[in-house]
Order: sequence, then C-alpha cells, then structure tokens
Amino acid sequence: MVVGCKNNSSVHKKRINKKRVFIAILILVILIFSIIGVTKKVTYLFSNEVHILENEEKYTLKIDYPIFHINKIDKKIKEYVNMKHDEFKDVVMASYKNINSKYDFILSVISNEYNSILNININTLSYTGGAHYNRDDFSLHYNKKTNEFMNISDFFIDEESFNKLDDLSYHYIMKLKETNNSMNFNEVWVRDGIIPNNSNYEHFVFKKDGLEIMFLPYQIAPWSYGEVKITIPYDKLNDLLKEEFRGDTEISKDENLIPEIRDISKFKNKKLVAFTFDDGPNTLTTKILLDNLDKYDARVTFFVLGSRIDSHSDILKRAFLQGNQIGSHTYSHKNLLLINRDSVLREINYTNEKIKEVIGEYPKLIRPPYGNTSIEIKSLSNLSTILWNVDTLDWKYRDKNKVCEEILKSARDGSIILLHDLYQSSVEGALMAMEKLQKEGYAFVTISEMASLKNIELNNKNTYFSLN
Ligand code: NI
Repeated sequence: MVVGCKNNSSVHKKRINKKRVFIAILILVILIFSIIGVTKKVTYLFSNEVHILENEEKYTLKIDYPIFHINKIDKKIKEYVNMKHDEFKDVVMASYKNINSKYDFILSVISNEYNSILNININTLSYTGGAHYNRDDFSLHYNKKTNEFMNISDFFIDEESFNKLDDLSYHYIMKLKETNNSMNFNEVWVRDGIIPNNSNYEHFVFKKDGLEIMFLPYQIAPWSYGEVKITIPYDKLNDLLKEEFRGDTEISKDENLIPEIRDISKFKNKKLVAFTFDDGPNTLTTKILLDNLDKYDARVTFFVLGSRIDSHSDILKRAFLQGNQIGSHTYSHKNLLLINRDSVLREINYTNEKIKEVIGEYPKLIRPPYGNTSIEIKSLSNLSTILWNVDTLDWKYRDKNKVCEEILKSARDGSIILLHDLYQSSVEGALMAMEKLQKEGYAFVTISEMASLKNIELNNKNTYFSLN
C-alpha cells in the first residue's frame, strides 16, 4: 500500500467527487465537440515555451516553440505556426471521414545565439497520406544589436565576398564523402543548389565552431539524402565577413566526458523503478529534475529528440555526466510506421550522431515515438527498444498531483514509467512520487542499471515494457 500524494484522505474523497463531475463535463464537452466536428486541443504555455499536443483517433499533432520575449520575433513565429496549424487542420477536416492511416503533424523550432545573432529554424513535418512526410522549413535571422532581421548576404563585406561562398560550400559538401561514402553527389546538381543568393542560403546558423549551412532535401541531392549540413570554420570565413560578425577561430578542444559512476549493489534487495522522460532535452525543466535527483539517490533515463539537442546540449551533457542514461527518441518524432526505410534510418542515425557529438558515446536504447515499432524498425535501429508499462498521461493533465498519483497507483518492482520532461508538472510530480516511493523501499535506477541488477541482458529484438 502506497501513501497518496496528498496526505489528507478527506481531501482525496472530495477530489474524487470533483473528478466525477469533471469527467461528466469533459464527456459532455467531447460529445458536443465531436458533434460539431471540432477537435479538442491541449495547449501548455510556459513563460518561455509553448507546447501543443493532440492525440486524436485520426491524427496526432505536436507543436513546440519557444517564446523569445522579443516582439518582432514572437509575432512572426506565432503567425507562421498558426498558418501551418490551420493548413493541417483544414486537410484533416476535409478528409476527416476517409482517413485510413493516422495523419501526423510535427512543428518544432531550433534556435541558436552567437555574437548577438539569433538564428531560428522552424521545421514542419506533416503526414497526410502518401509515401512520405511533407517538410517545410522557415528560418529567421535576427540581429539583437540592431533589432533587425537579416539575410545571409548582409553578413558579408560585399558581393564579391558573398560569391566566394560558392566554392567554400562546394569544398565542404565534397568533404562529407570522406565520412559517408554512400553520398555520391552530382556535380551539376550541387553547383546549382549552392549559387550564392539568399534563397539558396536561407537556413544557416552561426555557431561556436563556424557557419553551419543546411541545404534542404532535393536542393543539392536526391530526396533520399535528406537535409545536407556543412560547417564552414571561421578561419576560412572571417576574411569574407563584416567585422562585427567574425567568429572565434580557436575551436574548443574535445573534453573528457566521464560520467559519475555509482555503486548500484546497494539496491540489490530493493524494489526498482525506472523513471523515463521523453521529448526533451529541455533546459529549464530538465534542470529542475537534475537539481533534485540526489535527494532520492535517483538516476533516470532520458529519451531525447535529435532535433532538440543543438539548442539544449548543455543540459543533455549535464544529465549524462550526472550518471543518467541517454536514449534516442528519434530525430523529429515521426511515426516510424508511416515512413520508408531510408527515412527511418535517417531518424535513427542522425540522432545517434547528435547524441555522440554531445556525450561522446552512442545511445544503446531507443524509444520510438508513440511506441510504434516493428520487426524491421528494430533491426534497422539495432538498439534495445524500451517502451513502458506505466503511462502517467502527464502531457494531458499537466498537474503534478495527478502525475504523482498515477505513478503511485501503478508503480511496481520493475516498472518503467513514461513521463515528459518538457513539462514542469511532470518533473515535479515525478519528484513527489520519488519521495513517497522511497519510503516504501523503492530505488530509482536507469534502464541499464535495472537490467544489470535484475540480470537481464537487453537485446535488440525484444520490446521491453518493464523489466522483471
Ligand atoms: Ni514522444
């Protein structure tokens, strides 16, 4: 018997009564909504991020975007997001009755700041039938010193310097072959796609180690190659850039990444629970979790999205160094059952590389979005597939007491608990549950720690819902 998340039991009873009324109202609202054909929408507003999640019978939708508290930028992003959201909803409504496979919509935003330049990329993936997801990219480049939006040519001294980007890009694209010899670029195609003009170079980021340029699928290579990214280091670039935009040519040396190691033999006779957090990393909320894990002698597992790693790499590194486990949740949260073999491979491999870039090693675990996997996907990933047996529905409730209650209700020895560290309520609910469960003799371990304590050798063929 586990003590509840609220200590006063009469409070709990009142809550249940309230809950019945709430559920009745909710059912009524859903009925009304389904009659008039409007879908329900869950929006979560942080002070600096917005998350919208919809998981309906006919479609799934996931929108995450930051709030910069810079009017000009926030307005543009919001307008763009609303436009894309409406477009998708129109398609769903138009074909609502005859949707065969679930539609899907994912919008995510990556941003980076260097030298007072804010580079923002909004990526939209939508699946509305057919052979693959549709992709749309929109980038904004903002100079915080002048409060103006910029194009790539604005960073260069003059037209002549800007035109030199042509040969530089060509050089670094060809260099990609050295690490991946399956990339056989067609010279004419590449040359066409890299002619210096603002639309060929819409998607770029000034980073610590240089200017990263992203060429969209089909721009310089076949669709199956996906996006192609190159980084031009500042020592090749500074002479072409206006003085205020020049970067540091001292690239930081690779650090030694050795995580904290702990003795798990003390947990041998304890009941074990693995808390897992999906869809991050997320600097603000993941930090709250990391700051509090030591109180409960806890380590957890993060299933991270490759697309979020660049913007949240510091917190990911910290999570790893603290001794938490980092697994893959794929690159952009696509439903892997809807995409072809090449795309599945890209979703998995990109993420593996991104994780390795930050923590120095490849992940061993994968959690496919929505828990959707197949024998083929498992053999492509060649990672252990970890699902869950306790679903807190934290993304829906956004209530720390509810999250805590759901955990206490279902946690058993060997449980794997599904949570999302995007939400402060999830993180706080998890910590509350740890406090209660610790008193019940539970210990909180990563997936690999749990496997080793239970003498289970994880393989890449099974799908694990719990470890017993
Ligand atoms: Ni997810």
